Amino acid sequence: MPFLHLNAVCKGFDSPRGRTEILKNIHLEIERGEFVAIVGYSGAGKTTLINLIAGLTHPDSGRITLNDLEISGPGPDRGLVFQNYSLLPWLSVYENVRLAVDQLFPNLSEAKKHQHVQENIARVGLTPAAHKKPGELSGGMRQRVSVARALAMDPQILLLDEPLGALDALTRATLQDEISRLWQESNKTVVLITNDVDEGIYLADRIIPLSPGPAATLGPSTLVDIPRPRNRKRLSFDPSFKRIRQQVIDFLLESNKRRPASITKKLTLPEIEPEDLSVPRPLIGGRKTPIRAREQHRETIERIDAGS
Ligand SMILES: Nc1ncnc2c1ncn2[C@@H]1O[C@H](COP(=O)(O)OP(=O)(O)OP(=O)(O)O)[C@@H](O)[C@H]1O
Ligand SMILES: [Mg+2]
Repeated sequence: MPFLHLNAVCKGFDSPRGRTEILKNIHLEIERGEFVAIVGYSGAGKTTLINLIAGLTHPDSGRITLNDLEISGPGPDRGLVFQNYSLLPWLSVYENVRLAVDQLFPNLSEAKKHQHVQENIARVGLTPAAHKKPGELSGGMRQRVSVARALAMDPQILLLDEPLGALDALTRATLQDEISRLWQESNKTVVLITNDVDEGIYLADRIIPLSPGPAATLGPSTLVDIPRPRNRKRLSFDPSFKRIRQQVIDFLLESNKRRPASITKKLTLPEIEPEDLSVPRPLIGGRKTPIRAREQHRETIERIDAGS
């Protein structure tokens, strides 16, 4: 039995136009200690997928198990680093990490808690900034606090939702190396969500593309058989890197072409003339018809990239 197992998972959301299927028939198997990257377009459903694994939302159908136990809600076995830092702005770096430690290890002595917090802040290189509030930190530093907080929870699996998405290229590269080092030191299982194929290949043991939504599905899983430690500069010349990159990009481009080429929307024209409200509106099926029903239209919008 795989450590993390998603079996035929489907998830949709209600919208004014009915229910939209976001994820369809997701199958995913991850072994203990593996580093798996999931890469996909913006809006495809990556955060929805990570939220399902985190237990923050529930599948409409299908099953998710961690260590053979069904996931029914959030738990300390899963450490989550959100896309948008999500630190408490009125607490310092130390206090943000400490809060998680207080909640998860209430029985530890004061001295042990203090030591645990300091160790994890040191692991991400933030000791000199431990007293600072998130507003006084750069984006990269804030994201390191999120990583320190997740590590301090000592979870079985780390769920990283585009942790580096908002960072400049240089900071991003530095933090990629830190994540790689932390993973090798801690031997934790990691699921990394990213929109950067190169980042996924550089960091992961396996990379899996998610097709664009609606009804996104996972594509073929590709083993990243590039030995570690990986050299960033030499990576782009590595034949395995080129092959894997091509496979993943081909899948993403192909599945994007298969998306519906147009969508039809109901449009109501803006009201530019005064309406005579004394004129009664007819009742249909017990409900009043909309004002200016004749000015409601349907419009079909062609996707610009359709078939390109
Ligand atoms: N709680 C919700 N209620 C309704 N719709 C939602 C909800 N959460 C997400 N969606 C919709 O589901 C789709 C996928 O959203 P999601 O946040 O999972 O995408 P994503 O791949 O993480 O995108 P990004 O790369 O921009 O972060 C979007 O169309 C979004 O509008
Ligand atoms: Mg997201």
